[in-house]
Amino acid sequence: MKLGKSVFSIPVVLSTIASAAWGEPLTAEGIEKMGNNSLFTMARWRPSSHFLAPAGWMNDPCAPMYDPVRGLYHLHYQFHNNHIAWGNVSWGHATSPDLITWTDVDHYPDDGLPAWKDYQAQSIGTTNLTSNHHDPALYNHLSIFSGSGQAVNLTGGVDGTLLAFYTAASELPTAWNEPYLPGTESQALAISTDGGITWEHYENNPILSDPPGNWNITGWRDPFYVPWPQLDTLLNKTEPHWYAVWGSGIREIGPRMPLYTAPASDLTNWTFLGALWEPEKNTSLGTLEETGSYGFNFELSNFFSIGDRYFVSMGAEGGNVSFHQNKWSLWNEGLVSVRDNGSIAFTPTAGGASDFGLLYAINSFDDVKNDRRIQWGWAQEDINDFGATQLGYQGAFSHPREVFIKNTTGVSHKSSDVLGSSRYFKNTNGSWTASTLGVRPAPDVVKGLHRGARHIKYPCNQRKCDTKKINLPSNLTSSYQISFTIEHTTGMAGVTVGASPDGEEYTNIYFDPSSNNIVVDRANSSLIDEFTKTPHIGFFEPYQLQQKSGNTTMEPIQLDVFVDGSLVEVYANDRFALTSRIYPSREDSTGAKLFAAKGVNVKYSNVEIWDGLLNVWPDRPRNSSSLLIWDTAAETGNYTWWTGN
Ligand SMILES: *[C@@H]1O[C@H](CO)[C@@H](O)[C@H](O)[C@H]1NC(C)=O
Ligand SMILES: *[C@@H]1O[C@H](CO)[C@@H](O)[C@H](O)[C@H]1NC(C)=O
Ligand SMILES: *[C@@H]1O[C@H](CO)[C@@H](O)[C@H](O)[C@H]1NC(C)=O
Ligand SMILES: *[C@@H]1O[C@H](CO)[C@@H](O)[C@H](O)[C@H]1NC(C)=O
Ligand SMILES: *[C@@H]1O[C@H](CO)[C@@H](O)[C@H](O)[C@H]1NC(C)=O
Ligand SMILES: *[C@@H]1O[C@H](CO)[C@@H](O)[C@H](O)[C@H]1NC(C)=O
Ligand SMILES: *[C@@H]1O[C@H](CO)[C@@H](O)[C@H](O)[C@H]1NC(C)=O
Ligand SMILES: *[C@@H]1O[C@H](CO)[C@@H](O)[C@H](O)[C@H]1NC(C)=O
Ligand SMILES: *[C@@H]1O[C@H](CO)[C@@H](O)[C@H](O)[C@H]1NC(C)=O
Ligand SMILES: *[C@@H]1O[C@H](CO)[C@@H](O)[C@H](O)[C@H]1NC(C)=O
Ligand SMILES: *[C@@H]1O[C@H](CO)[C@@H](O)[C@H](O)[C@H]1NC(C)=O
Ligand SMILES: *[C@@H]1O[C@H](CO)[C@@H](O)[C@H](O)[C@H]1NC(C)=O
Repeated sequence: MKLGKSVFSIPVVLSTIASAAWGEPLTAEGIEKMGNNSLFTMARWRPSSHFLAPAGWMNDPCAPMYDPVRGLYHLHYQFHNNHIAWGNVSWGHATSPDLITWTDVDHYPDDGLPAWKDYQAQSIGTTNLTSNHHDPALYNHLSIFSGSGQAVNLTGGVDGTLLAFYTAASELPTAWNEPYLPGTESQALAISTDGGITWEHYENNPILSDPPGNWNITGWRDPFYVPWPQLDTLLNKTEPHWYAVWGSGIREIGPRMPLYTAPASDLTNWTFLGALWEPEKNTSLGTLEETGSYGFNFELSNFFSIGDRYFVSMGAEGGNVSFHQNKWSLWNEGLVSVRDNGSIAFTPTAGGASDFGLLYAINSFDDVKNDRRIQWGWAQEDINDFGATQLGYQGAFSHPREVFIKNTTGVSHKSSDVLGSSRYFKNTNGSWTASTLGVRPAPDVVKGLHRGARHIKYPCNQRKCDTKKINLPSNLTSSYQISFTIEHTTGMAGVTVGASPDGEEYTNIYFDPSSNNIVVDRANSSLIDEFTKTPHIGFFEPYQLQQKSGNTTMEPIQLDVFVDGSLVEVYANDRFALTSRIYPSREDSTGAKLFAAKGVNVKYSNVEIWDGLLNVWPDRPRNSSSLLIWDTAAETGNYTWWTGN
């Protein structure tokens, strides 16, 4: 994600009030009077079972990777330490043995400061502008944008080296809908030979200075690079090669995913092959509701295969529509073929949203330890910048999500020319198998999050619960999972979370069969009007299952809802995800109940709760806040590069 000077705010000198008066609802007036970091430790807003920076601003996931030599997972993030807004972006860094619990990496182990404090967790940083006035400006003096990582050295060998591939910025602001300043982005490598504690910029950076072809680009960032024997075979390569895609676009034409290749023996030598495919600007693969908008520029492009099937995923900028104000997080499946010029052509055959809510900048990696693909996305706060300095942090990642081929058999299907999120394969008995890109929180991680949680299983037999005997708790902690199945419903049905006893605050999360939508309705989520109240709406069309009688019935809908502070993730049938945010003002907005609109006939089954999910940052104190700093005009290009806070 890139921001320029779009948000300009004036620093306010704040009186330091120790903390909020608990017991009473928070009010906008009360928050305005609070000092920096006053709300930092407030559990009902700050997530504890998700990945997030120790403090300050974070956005995109960067360089997830597994180091087989040390048996450790690495995950980086866009970081603006000691600030609550985007600017001077670098990479922050944490490691995990199992993708469940995380530890901040202390990149300055000798200075006596804990890993979570100030810039200690920063792995790859920009040139220090204060100490250097470069002429010409260095390739990476303004930002270390996003990218990917691999546990290999420059010649592709596995010897304990970690190799980060990132986009360096030397001009700002940059945005797809603003003129592109020449030289804004270039591509660079950073190398660590001590397991990620110290990182060196590659001596011949940048390794790519000029955008692909003669494109009039809207952006050119976030390299995603992988070894890929299947493509070697397709392209008749006699020696192994690696392949990389970037997020990009051609002005007035459409978003693009440029494809590059490098011999495995020299990962500094990348050659442009061509665009993977040529979507037209602001169009959709199918219907906007189901397949979203390609927008005008891609960010965080990923290109990967699962078995013999090929997928891309991307953050699409600019394709806003009334029911989806944010950028789109999309995936497409496609057929690959060889172009006359020796490049690869990708022809989409299906597509959908990787997340229908606010999750963006989704980035994935090949979890070679478990032979699967895992992705994270960035969940921004949804507070309209209100109370940001009082929070002292902004942003978190989703749970690590496994993406996989999800087949559903015995589906009834009528063929259509409009592409959607499923492909249909006809079986010999005349029924169909629907096949799509599945998504679910990694099952082993979910199991880990349950450690120490209070587990409640409600009285249900296989296909039906005795709803009269189901009273979901009114005193849930700030991190819990509610799972249940809607076997059948005649109208809107789901669950209410974040509910106060008197019903003043609540959030309804439901499936609406009349529109095939899954909705997080935030109209009453908070008494604080400054926070966003618009609903998050995602398209979920249940399959119709073929009955022996010849009739069809709707497939049961299994909903898994994770609430962790303000962060809400909703999954359905392992093939739908939607991320939202809620900020209840009341301390007693801790209740949940099954929800159905008036007059709706609904049958639930398998109702379960895990309350008190694992704190995944065992080494961090609860208060891991850092001092907030305001940057001067001299440090921010007179506030054209970033806002100052
Ligand atoms: C920007 O970040 C770099 C490290 O990434 C740091 O050395 C420098 O002081 C920062 N500049 C400003 C103006 O904050
Ligand atoms: C950046 O440079 C200034 C001036 O030399 C110095 O005071 C400051 O500590 C440096 N910051 C970092 C993060 O190295
Ligand atoms: C990379 O690692 C391999 C061992 O896997 C080694 O043979 C090679 O020399 C290393 N290359 C560099 C540039 O260090
Ligand atoms: C690139 O696009 C912009 C905006 O449409 C236009 O003003 C500019 O002339 C184009 N540049 C080139 C080299 O075509
Ligand atoms: C690869 O080799 C096959 C078989 O010789 C040939 O048909 C094909 O055109 C070649 N592809 C490329 C990209 O050279
Ligand atoms: C880079 O790779 C290309 C194609 O694979 C090759 O022709 C070229 O010689 C390489 N360049 C260097 C400097 O090794
Ligand atoms: C993109 O398309 C949508 C409808 O599909 C339209 O509402 C919107 O105005 C378009 N956006 C731009 C920037 O052209
Ligand atoms: C999904 O179904 C298709 C069509 O029957 C089949 O080719 C494929 O192997 C199945 N994949 C998985 C992972 O079950
Ligand atoms: C919630 O209430 C139940 C039933 O009274 C009690 O067992 C449980 O400990 C309470 N949980 C919390 C987190 O207070
Ligand atoms: C099939 O559906 C129709 C209409 O809903 C219903 O009247 C009929 O009883 C169903 N048949 C069976 C065998 O379930
Ligand atoms: C609060 O944060 C702002 C930056 O947002 C900073 O300018 C100010 O000095 C901070 N106040 C205190 C008391 O640290
Ligand atoms: C900021 O603006 C002032 C007045 O226009 C100018 O003198 C100064 O050079 C500018 N500073 C930077 C860092 O661009």
